[in-house]
Amino acid sequence: MEQYEVLPPSPGKHNMDNYDEYCKNFTWESVEKEFSWYTTGKVNIAYEAIDRMVDEKGKGNDPAILYSDTEKEVTVTFADMKEQSAKFANVLTKLGIKKGDRVFLFIPRSPEMLISFAGIVKAGAIAGPLFEAFMEEAVKDRLVDSEAVAIVTTAGQKSRIKKDEIPSLKHVIVIGDEEANLAPYELSYEKLMAEASADFTPVWLTKDDPMFLLYTSGSTGKPKGVLHTHEIMTGIYHTMRISQDVQDGDVFWCTADPGWITGVSYSVWGPWLVGKATIIRGGRFSADDWYATLEKYGVTNWYSAPTAFRMLAAAGDDAVKKYNLKLRHITSVGEPLNPEVIMWAMKVFNVRIHETFFMTETGVNMICCYPCAPIRVGSMFKAIPGVEAAITDDDGNVLPPLQMGNLSLKKGWPGMMKEIWKNPEKYNEYFKNEPWYISGDQAYMDADGYIWFQGRNDDVIKTAGERVGPFEVESKLVEHPAVAEAGVIGKPDEVRGNIIKAFIALAPGYTWSDELDKELKQFVKLGLAAHAAPKEIEVRDKLPKTRSGKIMRRVLKAQEMGLPVGDLSTMDD
Ligand code: WTA
Repeated sequence: MEQYEVLPPSPGKHNMDNYDEYCKNFTWESVEKEFSWYTTGKVNIAYEAIDRMVDEKGKGNDPAILYSDTEKEVTVTFADMKEQSAKFANVLTKLGIKKGDRVFLFIPRSPEMLISFAGIVKAGAIAGPLFEAFMEEAVKDRLVDSEAVAIVTTAGQKSRIKKDEIPSLKHVIVIGDEEANLAPYELSYEKLMAEASADFTPVWLTKDDPMFLLYTSGSTGKPKGVLHTHEIMTGIYHTMRISQDVQDGDVFWCTADPGWITGVSYSVWGPWLVGKATIIRGGRFSADDWYATLEKYGVTNWYSAPTAFRMLAAAGDDAVKKYNLKLRHITSVGEPLNPEVIMWAMKVFNVRIHETFFMTETGVNMICCYPCAPIRVGSMFKAIPGVEAAITDDDGNVLPPLQMGNLSLKKGWPGMMKEIWKNPEKYNEYFKNEPWYISGDQAYMDADGYIWFQGRNDDVIKTAGERVGPFEVESKLVEHPAVAEAGVIGKPDEVRGNIIKAFIALAPGYTWSDELDKELKQFVKLGLAAHAAPKEIEVRDKLPKTRSGKIMRRVLKAQEMGLPVGDLSTMDD
């Protein structure tokens, strides 16, 4: 086994003092008891996270949203939030939107994004958060697949919604547009809100009723809709306490965008469920801006991603020194965290960075380093109390220590996806070795049960922490007349983890040029999203394929990395 550094537990008091003891005594019921539905039987996460903070916890005047960008600052209290989300729930109800209807959010990080999200959920509908940078086709695919009835968007983004290509879509609610610019089917958010009543009793549900639908990528096919229920609140609350270690006086900032699972669970709902403000910093990333944000709010618990930490480290240690920071607990997610980055954080913040592993499908943190336990740098430590992790072989047998295999989790925690939208086959693939949920990642356990992440098992690409399906990018590329075939892989990159690299064969009559290179990158960027566009394109006469015509990405990857290409018996010639 490799050599690793060990960092002692974080100083101070934590919500969990001893991992083994805590696991032994833990029951999910002890978390459920924190919610009012445990006694009333009436479930709605918007009630627990917002209304209850006003009605039962005396937090009406506390901030629920702390938004800032370079131009403005907005504070929304829990009392405002209760009122505004009630108004939006009334808006939707008046439009005829009912329990279970899909309403999408296509809005940059902003108070309105969060108010609409809360309003949708309060009204019993299913929210579909979209990443703000999605382009036409990415938006259309998701709305068509889920048969969305409404979308909330902004004047700046509405042109990317092709209503006539989305048959189910009835209402487009637009934030920040002049009345005169609205098409007949478009409604003004401001006008609807001004007319709406602030009285709304949350639609009471069961914990098994759907709350949000988040699309994510696999290695094959279009993005799939991962459906989560209101029960996720139990998992979020538990992990806000145990892995994020949020305590009474703490200030928590999760930098993730609400268009991704980390943003949904930990930027939006996590802080509210523990009575804290969601901190949102609008605008683009800059090291100075982020450090200033940490200082401004006195952030103590900070949740971000390896790419961001690497970019901060690259900005130099002096960049940090100007700021007076109160950090005491840092967590990271989305891609492997390099040991050098953990050591950098020890040097500049004197705080450990704790790995947290999870997926869109798992809803909440699953495997984490905790402040009470030593960190073996490079390992993710162990599953959260209440969840069992194992390394399994392809038949679902649990493997002994030090053997690499499928990173698996025992089915049935609160927050696990309920279904893949209209796609039970895909859902069942995750559970083909019951009782194990198979993550698609590879890992091993050491003799003490520490889990060491090794990489994806499939072709899914992680670029700057964002999950990109190669198939989606390949499909887009071959739509271009110059491209006969395309194979897309992740190419390791120091800052972004991976960049997207495309191999293409040109269609007859086309020759390669810098212009075509630029055009193809732009073609994907404008069709899907900037983060899905290849950074590098390489032209080949033809691509390695199986006899059945499937492009062999693993061969392209091995060639790119200068590694042996492995078994080629299925290759066509
Ligand atoms: C990867 C992101 C290494 C993994 C929350 C997983 C990680 C995929 C870690 C899910 C980590 C997540 N270390 N890799 N701590 N956390 N991953 O759905 O490959 O966007 O399967 O959810 O990210 O990506 P998703």
